[in-house]
Amino acid sequence: MPTRPTFIAGNWKMHKTVSEARLLASELLKGLAAIPPGAQVAIFPPSIALTAVVEAVRGGSRSIIVGSQNIHPAVQGAYTGEISAAMVLSTGATHTLVGHSERRHVFHEQDAESGKKVAAALEQGLLPVLCVGEKIEERESGRTEEVVSRQLKSGLAGLRGPEDLRKVIIAYEPVWAIGTGKTATPELAQEVHAFVRRRLGTIYKEKGGTADDAEAGLILYGGSVQPGNAAELLAKPDIDGLLVGGASLTAASFLAICGAGS
Ligand code: PGA
Repeated sequence: MPTRPTFIAGNWKMHKTVSEARLLASELLKGLAAIPPGAQVAIFPPSIALTAVVEAVRGGSRSIIVGSQNIHPAVQGAYTGEISAAMVLSTGATHTLVGHSERRHVFHEQDAESGKKVAAALEQGLLPVLCVGEKIEERESGRTEEVVSRQLKSGLAGLRGPEDLRKVIIAYEPVWAIGTGKTATPELAQEVHAFVRRRLGTIYKEKGGTADDAEAGLILYGGSVQPGNAAELLAKPDIDGLLVGGASLTAASFLAICGAGS
């Protein structure tokens, strides 16, 4: 059975000016040196700060992955205000979030659009973190699996084969747990993570992969993750890492979460 690395990611959303972002990135780099190596650490600052953050984390004793929070699926064009995968790559960043719940529910991004973004990222060499998750009314009406399944299917529809799939990280973030202080219990999160892994297994098979591929895939949990609940979430067999919003905005709390994953 493949072993999976722990992956701790911070989504800074629309927080931090360029100088604040640079400062937080350097504090993280310094702080990580004091934590036993273990977890892979990634940060997703606002796009305008990507270059500064990539520079700030360069040359440290621990590597920190840097990514954008969104991309446009087109290579280039008349899309005022948008950024392409190539633009993100040109900053030195390597990853991008796709289909975050705020993109889906505040900016009305459709499932198919997320799929185009995942495919565009991979075509251009950027590694996507595809976010999925149900709203409270969907959970309460027993439709969690149906929603997550649909988001996975559309999100991964444009991938060419198992080599593409192996580059995608999935983040399960129940919408009702994001920024609300309501974390899914580790048991509830584990249940959905196990479901996501089974669905990935089916999708891998359809694309010519094997069951081992889904076993190797990383599935992160997100939604009100804090230093106090990180370890119990990570203890679950199918929770391979965390996508942290609010608690990633200060070095102390994010480092404490990274420590829980080491
Ligand atoms: P939160 O956000 O940790 O503030 O709930 C998580 C996310 O949106 O990725």
